[in-house]
Amino acid sequence: MSDVLLAISNLHKTFDTANGPVQALYNVDLQVKEGEFITVIGPSGCGKSTLLRIVAGLDNGYSGEVTLEGARIGGPGIDKGFIFQEHRLFPWLTVEKNIASDLPLRNKEIRCKVDELIELVKLSGFEKAYPRELSGGMAQRVAIARALLRSPKILLLDEPFGALDAFTRAHMQQVLLDVWRTNQTTMVFVTHDIDEAVFLGERVVILEPRPGKIRKIVPVDLPYPRRKASVSFQEIRLKVMNYFEKVEELELTDGAGI
Ligand SMILES: Nc1ncnc2c1ncn2[C@@H]1O[C@H](COP(=O)(O)OP(=O)(O)OP(=O)(O)O)[C@@H](O)[C@H]1O
Ligand SMILES: [Mg+2]
Repeated sequence: MSDVLLAISNLHKTFDTANGPVQALYNVDLQVKEGEFITVIGPSGCGKSTLLRIVAGLDNGYSGEVTLEGARIGGPGIDKGFIFQEHRLFPWLTVEKNIASDLPLRNKEIRCKVDELIELVKLSGFEKAYPRELSGGMAQRVAIARALLRSPKILLLDEPFGALDAFTRAHMQQVLLDVWRTNQTTMVFVTHDIDEAVFLGERVVILEPRPGKIRKIVPVDLPYPRRKASVSFQEIRLKVMNYFEKVEELELTDGAGI
């Protein structure tokens, strides 16, 4: 595939701990096309964050090949945006200054881009607000805008809506899809939530634990906007759930042996 942006092949990651080595990722192969929206789902401890951190360039101690546009990922950089579960905004900076971070807002081009992003994440009117004045969803929208400011090639999201209530979460999913449609940024989105994974992703990657590896990749052949109540959505959801339950069974069986 010529339009592959992220290529992961034969990826293995082991952590050395006081209790011996922990194999966090085992033989992971995944190719993500430019502009694709991938969701990654799996039980706690199956290596989702480890995978994302490696792609972000935050962890170099792995074996295998991980490349972005054909070049080995050697460290963090502006070509890779990262969104965490908690927003990690600077409490002493306003919304617009958080988005601009270390870039000068008095620069016309940056001012313009920040304003565009504020509109894109639906925060117009809150430019001068401080993080303490924002709801959790609003703060997370600031974090998304901040990550997009430098036009990353890929946005990596580690359970970004995990701490939000169901209504805010549904709204944020919509906002993120709007951002994706407008900017066409490639997305790799980690979640615990099957509905969220199927609602957002063009493909859902299901990981299984101990050692963390890909169990199945389920394509979601549904046009956007998707309706969670539709029969076709529920069919795919059940398919994913079926694999997911097998993963959990596997985990319980493993646990029973301890
Ligand atoms: N820095 C570390 N040192 C040692 N072990 C680690 C470290 N980071 C992760 N691990 C181990 O690697 C495995 C995968 O962890 P990871 O955080 O990637 O899982 P996860 O799928 O993101 O889980 P969760 O859904 O709870 O966030 C776990 O067994 C974890 O204990
Ligand atoms: Mg995690």
